[in-house]
Amino acid sequence: MHICVIVGARPNFMKGAPLVEALRSYSGAKVSLVHTGQHYSANLSDLFFDQLGLPRPEVNLGVGSDSHVRQIARIMEGLQDYFVHVQPDVVVVVGDVNSTLAAALVANKLMLPLAHVEAGLRSFDRSMPEETNRVLTDAVSHLLFTTEPSANENLKREGIGEGKVHFVGNLMIDTLQKHRPKAIALRMPRSLGLQPRNYALLTLHRPANVDTFAQLRRILSALEWIQKEMPVVFPMHPRTSERIYQFGFETVLKGMTGLRCIEPMGYLEFLGLMDGAAVVLTDSGGIQEETTCLGVPCLTLRNNTERPVTVNVGTNELVGNDPERIIAGVSKVLSGSWKKGRLPDAWDGHAAKRVADVLLAADYHQQSYR
Ligand code: UD1
Repeated sequence: MHICVIVGARPNFMKGAPLVEALRSYSGAKVSLVHTGQHYSANLSDLFFDQLGLPRPEVNLGVGSDSHVRQIARIMEGLQDYFVHVQPDVVVVVGDVNSTLAAALVANKLMLPLAHVEAGLRSFDRSMPEETNRVLTDAVSHLLFTTEPSANENLKREGIGEGKVHFVGNLMIDTLQKHRPKAIALRMPRSLGLQPRNYALLTLHRPANVDTFAQLRRILSALEWIQKEMPVVFPMHPRTSERIYQFGFETVLKGMTGLRCIEPMGYLEFLGLMDGAAVVLTDSGGIQEETTCLGVPCLTLRNNTERPVTVNVGTNELVGNDPERIIAGVSKVLSGSWKKGRLPDAWDGHAAKRVADVLLAADYHQQSYR
């Protein structure tokens, strides 16, 4: 059986890695990994392949950055040629980035069986490009692997047959559990001169937070307060650095002596920093899940989340992008009254094996896979 796994952007690599490893442990499976090249910078791509032990991809389409339309179109053209050439039995896509949607549409047009890992998550906010990617990918998938109960409810409401949906847990947590000891051994907080549990870690890259002058300024004003209370480390996504430069905020940042802006980090380095943080502030999806697994307080700088289990069960709270709410959240952490949270069901480090078992047991010749 030939299984083709597609990855393209940073958050895909942590989900693809345990799946490729689990599939390769079965002798009957040929697994090919395709990288669309949506992310191409060494610290957003190659470093992750190295640290996570991902095999070199069979092919890298090298599509790079562009408008979403051009990026998706280029991925689709490249993947069509590849799929026609290798004729996989099943295509597996992960997450919700543009590469996920592009690969799903190509599989659909070529009538290839399609599996989606991390299906069913919904923010109900169509202004997020990822939300459209999720809804459309799920609509054309034959096998849908979910990470939390809300995803199963969402798919049921959208009329997706329950027989197609498999609750397997969280592949990104498989990766976290496997690599956590190595990440801790790096002693990242100390190497940056920080005391464990005495610093905040910030990530910011959503267009809604960084693409307008006024909104980014509001978040920076909350940051001005936080960095006086405790050191803040800010590994800056390239989209955000571009905006900081474009809006002329460099001097505002330089004036904050408790703030440390650094380049985007490797997986292990970032995990090590998350693990030792007093609090994480983020607008990422995956980090909400990782902090829940680590038991570290997480303030999500958005008004919605497609991952409600991290709020209902885990350590996450939504604080939006209003400075007062952000500061109130950090104050609550500092006062020691943040909730403890627990690990969501099936986030046990074995999700990839459960996905592999379903993928390998399926009979893709059945009409239901066309
Ligand atoms: C993409 C995903 C988002 C994910 C994020 C993680 C979509 C729609 N968005 O957003 O869901 O959370 O990745 O990082 O798929 N750039 C580089 N090097 C790179 C890639 C990008 O410098 O390797 C710069 C480019 O200037 C680019 C900008 O970052 O224009 C934004 O990159 P893009 O891939 O368009 O979107 P992300 O914001 O990274």
